[in-house]
Formats: sequence, structure tokens, C-alpha cells
Amino acid sequence: MDQANGLREMVRNKAYNMNGVKGVKRDSGGSPGPRVVSVTSGKGGVGKTNIVGNLAIAFRRLGKRVLILDGDLGLANIDIIFGLNPVYNIKHVINGEKDLEEVIVEGPEEICIIPGGSGLHELVHLTNGQKLNLLNEFDTLNEDFDIFLIDTGAGISSNIIYFNIAAQERIVVATCEPSSITDAYALMKVMFTQHGTRSFKLLVNMVSHAEEAKSVFENLSNAVGRFLKDISLEYVGFILKDDNFQRAVRQQCTVLQRYPESESSKGFCELAQRLLANSPNASCDGNIKFFWKKLMSCH
Ligand SMILES: Nc1ncnc2c1ncn2[C@@H]1O[C@H](COP(=O)(O)OP(=O)(O)O)[C@@H](O)[C@H]1O
Ligand SMILES: [Mg+2]
Repeated sequence: MDQANGLREMVRNKAYNMNGVKGVKRDSGGSPGPRVVSVTSGKGGVGKTNIVGNLAIAFRRLGKRVLILDGDLGLANIDIIFGLNPVYNIKHVINGEKDLEEVIVEGPEEICIIPGGSGLHELVHLTNGQKLNLLNEFDTLNEDFDIFLIDTGAGISSNIIYFNIAAQERIVVATCEPSSITDAYALMKVMFTQHGTRSFKLLVNMVSHAEEAKSVFENLSNAVGRFLKDISLEYVGFILKDDNFQRAVRQQCTVLQRYPESESSKGFCELAQRLLANSPNASCDGNIKFFWKKLMSCH
């Protein structure tokens, strides 16, 4: 695949000009920059990458222009779930070999993806000039997207924490497995006690029914209420455990594309609607450049 070829054109025109795309109307919210949302977890394997992929599709179908950052430095696999094979990543932008537009790949339904790769490790070593260049590149994207989703990877390593600090909203994913609940708690605890981050959203994945998800939330919310009083944990819903979900994964596709009538697909549509109905405070500075600026200042 030649990523460079025509991508600049896509970034400037086609992908973001929703009026002409598959009947999806462009959102005319006129916001100053996209919502910057990280999808994170304490424990791995809870469904983050697939949640990012499906949520992106759900947002697109609601007319939103979506950019994804693959921030999982260990297992960069948002490209795998979309069946993509990117050649370039952020590193090529940092090195000055490529422009950001040449590194961004187009996934299904014109979702745009920034492959992070090992370049994200290098943010710490950038000269001020390189930082400025990178920020200027990202600045150009602000008007082009409504939602910027970050797949952070799992755990409490500094990179993951930094992504979450820099994001405007954080969706913590947990399952009913006790270790995933305690690890979600540990992640929020570190973020609050070491970095003062106070607001989190909880999404419970792979549940058999709504009550199961509710009890995970109550469990976490009680622990937070008792030991981390100043944290606000908002329940944003659940995704059912679904055989079609796994079938779709095996076909390198999202469940929402392959089995739109499946229970988990409906869950993603409801989640996207709920998130859109609940916009963050306008005073919160949510744009792509601001995200990278914060990210670099963490290092
Ligand atoms: N709602 C669900 N129903 C069924 N299987 C799921 C669901 N969510 C995730 N999975 C399974 O979990 C696996 C891991 O998901 P993944 O998105 O890679 O997790 P993470 O990014 O958190 O490591 C997927 O390959 C899929 O098989
Ligand atoms: Mg993942």
C-alpha cells in the first residue's frame, strides 16, 4: 500500500467532506476542536482495541468524523481489526521523513488512523523545534475531525498514564473478572494520587446482562467513594458478550460492520449516542493540538 499516495488529498478533501460520503451528513456543531477520548484499562484483553474500532464506526454512522490514534505501543493492533497494513507511523513524522497526512491511513467508512508505533516512545527526546513541528502538524487536523479516539493499551506504565492525562475524557474498560476490576481501580488510583486526574467514565464489557455490568460499576464506585472520594466515576454502559463479536474479530472486521443486528453492535450504537448526548464542558480544552502539547509536557 502506498500511504503517501493521495492521502494528502484525502485529508484535505474527500474523507472529511462528509456531504458527499455515503449519505452521511457532516455534523455542523462548529466546535473549536474534536472531543479527545482515551479508551483505557488496567488489565489487558478486556476489549479496548475492538471497542475503539466499533465505537469509531458507530460515530461515523452518526455523521461524526473520526480520527484514531493507535497508542498501544506493545500490541499495535487497531490496524489488524480493520485489516490494514500501514507502512509509516508517527516516527516518520518526528524524523521529518513524512508529513502527518502521509502517515494517516484510511480505514473502513473513512475512519482515519494514526499508527503510533515506537515513535511514541521518542516524544521524550524531541528538541523544541521538533515538538513545535509536530504540534503544527496536529493543529491542521483540528478542523477536520469531530472525535479523536485513543487506544492506550493496558496498565499503569507512564505512556498509558500520559495518554490518559492528555485526553479530555477517559473511558475505563473493565469486565466482570475481579482482576480487571481491581486493575481498573489501580489505574484510577495512580492517575488521581500521582496526577490529580479526577474524572473517569466506566464501560463494562463482555457481560451476560445489564445487571452484571451494573454490579461491576457499583463495586468500583463503592471502592472509589470510600478511598478516592474526589474522583467522579460515571457509568456509560455495557457491551454484551457476543459470539458474533469473536466471529467478526476472526474475519478482521468489526462486529458492527459484519453483524450490525447483533446485541453487541446495538450496544456500540447506544454507547455512541449516549456519549454524544453528553458533551463535555465547553470550557475543557479538547482539541488535537492541545492533546499533544499536554502529552509532550508530561514527558
Ligand atoms: N463483547 C465481547 N464479546 C465477545 N468477545 C469479546 C468482546 N469484547 C472483546 N472480546 C474478545 O476479547 C478479545 C480481546 O479484545 P481486544 O480488543 O484485543 O482487547 P484489548 O485491546 O483490551 O487488549 C477479542 O479478540 C475478542 O475475542
Ligand atoms: Mg488492544
